Amino acid sequence: MKLTKEQLKEFDESGYLFFPGLFSEAEAAVLKTEAQNVYASDRKEVWRESSGVARTAFAAHTYNEAFKRLGAHPRLIEPVEQLLDGPLYMHQFKVNAKAAFDGEVWQWHQDYGTWKRDDEMPEPRAMNIAVFIDDVTAANGPLLFIPGSHKQGVVAAGHDLETTSYPLWTLDRETVSKLAEKGGCVAPTGPSGSVLLFSSLLVHASPANISPFDRTIVYLSLCHVDNHIRAFNREEWIAHRDFTPIKSLPDDCLEKMSKSNEHVAAASVS
Ligand code: SIN
Ligand code: MN
Repeated sequence: MKLTKEQLKEFDESGYLFFPGLFSEAEAAVLKTEAQNVYASDRKEVWRESSGVARTAFAAHTYNEAFKRLGAHPRLIEPVEQLLDGPLYMHQFKVNAKAAFDGEVWQWHQDYGTWKRDDEMPEPRAMNIAVFIDDVTAANGPLLFIPGSHKQGVVAAGHDLETTSYPLWTLDRETVSKLAEKGGCVAPTGPSGSVLLFSSLLVHASPANISPFDRTIVYLSLCHVDNHIRAFNREEWIAHRDFTPIKSLPDDCLEKMSKSNEHVAAASVS
């Protein structure tokens, strides 16, 4: 999948691109089932909210076949190779739950702020992709973006170790308010299968989910191979150290899994 000239211009101006329904319902359903399996497992990579529900599962592409395929999907890898102009490795992979009623806040931050300070990633030559595997609505804790905030470079942040179970370099209210005076604040919403591609410098957050609907989103954080991290302060399943270039799989790699699951389901009821 190649981005058009208009999309490149839009990305440059706003710092993100939205692709509603880029994956089919069937492809998203495979990922949702696998997310539930991962959350139900007792793995060190699954971090939980204070209530005990899953908050995020790290590195699922290394231990789950469906997420492994998503992590090399051409609809995700090709546009980022185009934007970052070269081969990519997976810096981080998260399946964020934001569970119905109990999903907690993600404070205002820039991802590159953490990657620079904690992992010594040299440049913001890295990108996030969010794949919705539930419908994301105004009600269930959507991502909030400040359009254009990626143009500010790395902004001042403090290390928040207390608000949630996930340590993060977060922005104070004054900084967020100033940025939003200029760029406003948007919450892209859409059906499961939709994709948001956003700059690692874009300022973003998400509110708690007190709705009765889950909001599961998978995040691929892709980095140009030359820009790999220099410091190994965090666990390797949080900030990866395998800098091998990702080779895209065929476009039907997930669809094939959904077809084989249908086969298994049909066999088990017959
Ligand atoms: C993140 O910013 O890394 C996660 C935000 C979310 O899943 O709501
Ligand atoms: Mn983030």
